[in-house]
Amino acid sequence: MQQSVPSSSQSPSQSPSQSPAQIQPESLRSERWGINLNHWYVVARSLELQAEPLGVTLWQQAIVLFRDAAGQIQAIEDRCLHRQVKLSHGKVVGDQIECSYHGWCFDGSGACAAVPYLNERQKLPSAKLRSYPVREQDGFVWLFPGDAAQANSAPPLGLPEWDHLNYIATVSLIDCQAHYSFLMENLMDMYHGHLHQDYQAWADPVLQDLEETPQRVDAHYQAQSYYKIDKIWSISQLFFPALRRLHPEPLDVSYIYPHWVATLGQDFKICCLVCPISETATRAYLIHFTSLNAFDNLHKLPISFRRFLKNRLFGSAQRILDGLVEQDMLMIEEEQQAYLQNPQRQSHELNRAITSVQRLIRQQVQQGKL
Ligand code: FES
Ligand SMILES: [Fe+2]
Repeated sequence: MQQSVPSSSQSPSQSPSQSPAQIQPESLRSERWGINLNHWYVVARSLELQAEPLGVTLWQQAIVLFRDAAGQIQAIEDRCLHRQVKLSHGKVVGDQIECSYHGWCFDGSGACAAVPYLNERQKLPSAKLRSYPVREQDGFVWLFPGDAAQANSAPPLGLPEWDHLNYIATVSLIDCQAHYSFLMENLMDMYHGHLHQDYQAWADPVLQDLEETPQRVDAHYQAQSYYKIDKIWSISQLFFPALRRLHPEPLDVSYIYPHWVATLGQDFKICCLVCPISETATRAYLIHFTSLNAFDNLHKLPISFRRFLKNRLFGSAQRILDGLVEQDMLMIEEEQQAYLQNPQRQSHELNRAITSVQRLIRQQVQQGKL
């Protein structure tokens, strides 16, 4: 059921974003330190996983990823059954991963498939390592760390722009020492454009409407955009701030648990694909797409040229995106530190979207316990 909170429900003296009476005091932060593991999380980019195994951590679980002989990704616990060392320090042999210490081999189901010095009176250990549902989709490796029986009930969040020829992508890695909730609150609160100065993509946001379900929060802001991609040279606005002109655009941001998606007018889409590591550490990929939909003539060109252009322009917004991430991370890590130093201190929040984010996280944490 969708709970919609239209702006018309506000009294005239209250702006939609500043209605303290409607803000429920944040309950104990400790309630939101959890997570619902029954979702698809992103643990790596596809290109990070080549012939060598890759060790990742998802909510304190050490996991090794490797490609089998057919190139399919396998994901199992990153520990050898023998003496608990990391399998990710080993190597891939055919469809198996071989431990670097004594050479025991494990397949993608987590079973021990070979021990090099097993004699005829000995059997392979019957214990198995945990294996995880894993998929490669839209340039990323998606992993389901919860109840594997639920993995097929909801697919990973789609990223159709990744392969679409009309979108230019830029990827920035977020690696921050903070709980994922601080990151999501930052991403859903468009009033923090104040922080970004030269990197700012939007201005003058006003929260217009907020929709909330147990699965997602959609916040609709009206804002001014600094960018307009309507001429082929408009891309240069990504490099030269002086070329930017403010104009009104809708700014829609959505927390689709556990990930985040935003659009600024027709020209930009940004996603944040999350890999929570622990209660105080989060990795995530911020992916910025610039749309070339406005260029009809471009679409008449050969596919091979359009693909060349897409690949050539990959990373066009790198400086801006990395700059935004650096500024945000400083604030997010300071919030985490301030909380650790004084967990009882209350924050004073005026943006209703943040209250919705906190409520969604609490609901998801509860749902994950069922
Ligand atoms: S610790 Fe892995 S084979 Fe011995
Ligand atoms: Fe930001």
